[in-house]
Amino acid sequence: MRKPTPTLAVLISGRGSNLQALIEHAQRTAAYRIAVVISNRPNAGGLDLARDAGIPVEVVDHTTFTDRAAFDAALAERLDGYATDWVVLAGFMRVLTEGFVERYSGRLVNIHPSLLPAFPGLKTHEQALAAGVRVHGATVHLVTPALDHGPIVDQAVVQVLDGDTPQTLAERVLALEHRLFPRAIEALCAGRVAHAGSLAMVGAASQPLIMNIPLVDEHYGQKA
Ligand code: GAR
Repeated sequence: MRKPTPTLAVLISGRGSNLQALIEHAQRTAAYRIAVVISNRPNAGGLDLARDAGIPVEVVDHTTFTDRAAFDAALAERLDGYATDWVVLAGFMRVLTEGFVERYSGRLVNIHPSLLPAFPGLKTHEQALAAGVRVHGATVHLVTPALDHGPIVDQAVVQVLDGDTPQTLAERVLALEHRLFPRAIEALCAGRVAHAGSLAMVGAASQPLIMNIPLVDEHYGQKA
Protein backbone atom coordinates (compact mmCIF):
# COMPACT_ATOMS: atom_id res chain seq x y z
CA MET A 1 0.00 0.00 0.00
CA ARG A 2 1.24 3.52 -0.81
CA LYS A 3 2.33 5.60 2.16
CA PRO A 4 0.09 8.64 2.83
CA THR A 5 1.59 12.01 1.88
CA PRO A 6 3.23 13.61 4.96
CA THR A 7 1.36 16.67 6.22
CA LEU A 8 2.64 20.01 7.50
CA ALA A 9 1.26 22.80 9.63
CA VAL A 10 3.17 25.97 8.71
CA LEU A 11 3.38 28.73 11.32
CA ILE A 12 4.06 32.27 10.13
CA SER A 13 4.13 35.83 11.45
CA GLY A 14 4.73 37.92 8.33
CA ARG A 15 5.09 38.14 4.57
CA GLY A 16 5.43 34.39 4.06
CA SER A 17 8.01 34.16 1.28
CA ASN A 18 9.35 30.92 2.75
CA LEU A 19 5.78 29.63 2.99
CA GLN A 20 5.37 30.44 -0.72
CA ALA A 21 8.52 28.44 -1.51
CA LEU A 22 7.09 25.50 0.46
CA ILE A 23 3.74 25.80 -1.35
CA GLU A 24 5.39 25.81 -4.78
CA HIS A 25 7.57 22.83 -3.90
CA ALA A 26 4.51 20.87 -2.77
CA GLN A 27 2.75 21.74 -6.03
CA ARG A 28 5.77 20.54 -8.05
CA THR A 29 6.69 17.41 -6.14
CA ALA A 30 3.87 16.28 -3.83
CA ALA A 31 6.63 15.54 -1.27
CA TYR A 32 4.26 16.80 1.44
CA ARG A 33 0.89 18.47 1.82
CA ILE A 34 0.37 21.72 3.74
CA ALA A 35 -2.76 21.04 5.80
CA VAL A 36 -2.97 24.44 7.52
CA VAL A 37 -1.18 27.77 7.84
CA ILE A 38 -1.41 29.42 11.25
CA SER A 39 -0.40 33.01 11.98
CA ASN A 40 -0.05 34.82 15.29
CA ARG A 41 -0.73 38.08 13.42
CA PRO A 42 -4.13 38.60 11.78
CA ASN A 43 -2.65 40.79 9.02
CA ALA A 44 0.31 38.58 8.05
CA GLY A 45 0.81 38.72 4.27
CA GLY A 46 1.44 34.99 4.18
CA LEU A 47 -2.20 34.31 5.04
CA ASP A 48 -3.22 35.56 1.58
CA LEU A 49 -0.60 33.36 -0.07
CA ALA A 50 -2.10 30.37 1.72
CA ARG A 51 -5.66 31.34 0.80
CA ASP A 52 -4.64 31.77 -2.85
CA ALA A 53 -3.26 28.24 -2.78
CA GLY A 54 -6.48 26.88 -1.25
CA ILE A 55 -4.87 26.06 2.10
CA PRO A 56 -6.94 26.46 5.30
CA VAL A 57 -5.74 29.33 7.48
CA GLU A 58 -6.05 29.99 11.19
CA VAL A 59 -5.13 33.00 13.31
CA VAL A 60 -4.16 32.73 16.96
CA ASP A 61 -3.53 36.37 17.83
CA HIS A 62 -0.90 36.50 20.56
CA THR A 63 -1.99 39.98 21.65
CA THR A 64 -5.23 38.52 23.03
CA PHE A 65 -3.45 36.30 25.58
CA THR A 66 -2.12 37.33 28.95
CA ASP A 67 1.03 35.17 28.85
CA ARG A 68 3.11 32.88 26.67
CA ALA A 69 1.77 29.69 28.23
CA ALA A 70 -1.84 30.65 27.46
CA PHE A 71 -0.96 31.55 23.87
CA ASP A 72 0.99 28.32 23.37
CA ALA A 73 -1.88 26.25 24.81
CA ALA A 74 -4.33 27.84 22.35
CA LEU A 75 -1.88 27.35 19.49
CA ALA A 76 -1.40 23.68 20.40
CA GLU A 77 -5.15 23.13 20.56
CA ARG A 78 -5.59 24.61 17.08
CA LEU A 79 -2.63 22.63 15.74
CA ASP A 80 -3.83 19.36 17.18
CA GLY A 81 -7.11 19.76 15.29
CA TYR A 82 -5.07 19.13 12.12
CA ALA A 83 -2.85 16.35 13.55
CA THR A 84 -0.05 17.02 11.08
CA ASP A 85 3.15 15.01 10.87
CA TRP A 86 5.32 18.15 11.01
CA VAL A 87 5.05 21.62 12.51
CA VAL A 88 7.12 24.04 10.43
CA LEU A 89 8.14 27.50 11.64
CA ALA A 90 8.51 29.73 8.56
CA GLY A 91 9.27 33.18 9.92
CA PHE A 92 7.26 32.55 13.08
CA MET A 93 8.57 35.26 15.38
CA ARG A 94 7.36 34.06 18.79
CA VAL A 95 9.49 32.44 21.46
CA LEU A 96 7.79 29.15 22.31
CA THR A 97 7.54 27.71 25.80
CA GLU A 98 9.45 24.59 26.77
CA GLY A 99 6.15 22.71 27.17
CA PHE A 100 5.11 23.53 23.61
CA VAL A 101 8.50 22.55 22.17
CA GLU A 102 8.48 19.28 24.05
CA ARG A 103 4.96 18.44 22.91
CA TYR A 104 6.12 18.56 19.26
CA SER A 105 9.66 17.36 19.90
CA GLY A 106 11.30 15.72 16.87
CA ARG A 107 8.71 17.08 14.45
CA LEU A 108 9.09 20.84 15.04
CA VAL A 109 11.34 22.51 12.44
CA ASN A 110 12.60 26.10 12.06
CA ILE A 111 14.48 28.15 9.49
CA HIS A 112 16.83 30.81 10.79
CA PRO A 113 18.74 33.40 8.73
CA SER A 114 22.28 32.65 9.93
CA LEU A 115 24.76 29.82 10.02
CA LEU A 116 23.82 28.56 13.48
CA PRO A 117 25.17 28.35 16.12
CA ALA A 118 26.38 31.82 15.07
CA PHE A 119 23.96 34.71 15.44
CA PRO A 120 20.78 33.42 17.07
CA GLY A 121 17.99 35.93 17.75
CA LEU A 122 17.08 39.00 15.73
CA LYS A 123 18.98 41.20 13.25
CA THR A 124 21.19 38.34 12.12
CA HIS A 125 22.51 40.19 9.04
CA GLU A 126 23.53 43.15 11.18
CA GLN A 127 25.19 40.74 13.61
CA ALA A 128 27.10 39.05 10.76
CA LEU A 129 28.38 42.35 9.35
CA ALA A 130 29.37 43.59 12.81
CA ALA A 131 31.32 40.37 13.42
CA GLY A 132 33.15 40.67 10.10
CA VAL A 133 32.42 37.09 9.04
CA ARG A 134 33.32 36.22 5.43
CA VAL A 135 30.44 33.77 4.99
CA HIS A 136 26.88 33.91 6.21
CA GLY A 137 23.73 31.97 5.42
CA ALA A 138 20.72 30.13 6.73
CA THR A 139 20.02 27.03 8.79
CA VAL A 140 17.13 24.59 9.00
CA HIS A 141 17.06 22.87 12.37
CA LEU A 142 14.90 20.83 14.67
CA VAL A 143 13.65 22.99 17.52
CA THR A 144 14.74 22.59 21.13
CA PRO A 145 13.69 24.80 24.03
CA ALA A 146 16.79 27.04 23.62
CA LEU A 147 16.21 29.90 21.15
CA ASP A 148 17.40 29.18 17.58
CA HIS A 149 19.05 25.98 18.65
CA GLY A 150 18.77 22.28 17.86
CA PRO A 151 19.98 19.53 15.54
CA ILE A 152 21.01 21.07 12.20
CA VAL A 153 19.24 19.50 9.23
CA ASP A 154 20.71 21.61 6.42
CA GLN A 155 22.51 24.89 5.76
CA ALA A 156 23.07 27.33 2.91
CA VAL A 157 26.08 29.60 2.61
CA VAL A 158 26.59 32.97 0.92
CA GLN A 159 29.76 35.02 0.68
CA VAL A 160 29.77 38.37 2.46
CA LEU A 161 30.82 40.95 -0.16
CA ASP A 162 32.57 44.30 0.20
CA GLY A 163 29.91 46.96 0.54
CA ASP A 164 27.20 44.58 1.74
CA THR A 165 24.49 46.18 3.87
CA PRO A 166 22.07 44.24 6.07
CA GLN A 167 19.55 44.62 3.22
CA THR A 168 21.75 43.30 0.40
CA LEU A 169 22.90 40.41 2.57
CA ALA A 170 19.33 39.66 3.61
CA GLU A 171 18.23 39.50 -0.02
CA ARG A 172 20.90 36.95 -0.97
CA VAL A 173 20.28 34.85 2.13
CA LEU A 174 16.50 34.90 1.59
CA ALA A 175 16.87 33.73 -2.01
CA LEU A 176 18.84 30.76 -0.73
CA GLU A 177 16.35 30.12 2.09
CA HIS A 178 13.73 29.57 -0.59
CA ARG A 179 15.82 26.73 -2.05
CA LEU A 180 17.06 25.36 1.27
CA PHE A 181 13.81 25.09 3.21
CA PRO A 182 11.76 22.96 0.78
CA ARG A 183 14.59 20.51 0.24
CA ALA A 184 15.20 20.18 3.98
CA ILE A 185 11.49 19.63 4.66
CA GLU A 186 11.34 17.09 1.84
CA ALA A 187 14.32 15.22 3.36
CA LEU A 188 12.63 15.17 6.77
CA CYS A 189 9.31 14.03 5.31
CA ALA A 190 11.03 11.27 3.34
CA GLY A 191 12.67 9.98 6.54
CA ARG A 192 16.14 10.80 5.19
CA VAL A 193 17.20 12.65 8.35
CA ALA A 194 18.37 10.66 11.32
CA HIS A 195 18.74 12.54 14.56
CA ALA A 196 20.26 11.57 17.85
CA GLY A 197 20.90 13.91 20.75
CA SER A 198 22.13 17.24 19.46
CA LEU A 199 22.96 16.00 15.94
CA ALA A 200 20.93 15.39 12.81
CA MET A 201 22.37 13.54 9.85
CA VAL A 202 21.09 13.80 6.31
CA GLY A 203 22.12 11.10 3.83
CA ALA A 204 25.65 11.39 2.44
CA ALA A 205 24.32 12.60 -0.91
CA SER A 206 23.27 15.93 0.59
CA GLN A 207 25.66 18.88 0.21
CA PRO A 208 25.19 22.29 1.79
CA LEU A 209 24.02 24.93 -0.68
CA ILE A 210 27.01 27.17 -1.33
CA MET A 211 26.49 30.30 -3.39
CA ASN A 212 29.25 31.73 -5.60
CA ILE A 213 32.15 30.98 -3.30
CA PRO A 214 35.35 29.98 -5.09
CA LEU A 215 36.56 26.73 -3.54
CA VAL A 216 40.25 27.55 -4.09
CA ASP A 217 42.71 29.24 -1.80
CA GLU A 218 45.22 30.33 -4.44
CA HIS A 219 44.82 34.02 -3.68
CA TYR A 220 46.44 33.73 -0.27
CA GLY A 221 49.85 35.38 -0.35
CA GLN A 222 49.06 37.21 -3.57
CA LYS A 223 48.09 40.79 -4.10
CA ALA A 224 44.37 41.22 -4.49
C1 GAR B 1 13.11 34.51 7.15
O1 GAR B 1 14.32 35.13 6.80
C2 GAR B 1 13.34 33.49 8.26
O2 GAR B 1 14.56 32.82 8.16
C3 GAR B 1 13.30 34.39 9.48
O3 GAR B 1 12.24 35.26 9.23
C4 GAR B 1 12.16 35.50 7.81
C5 GAR B 1 10.72 35.29 7.39
O4 GAR B 1 10.53 35.71 6.07
N1 GAR B 1 13.12 33.64 10.70
C6 GAR B 1 13.69 33.96 11.85
O5 GAR B 1 14.38 34.94 12.00
C7 GAR B 1 13.41 33.00 12.99
N2 GAR B 1 14.32 33.20 14.09
P1 GAR B 1 9.27 35.22 5.26
O6 GAR B 1 8.03 35.58 6.10
O7 GAR B 1 9.31 35.99 3.98
O8 GAR B 1 9.40 33.73 5.07
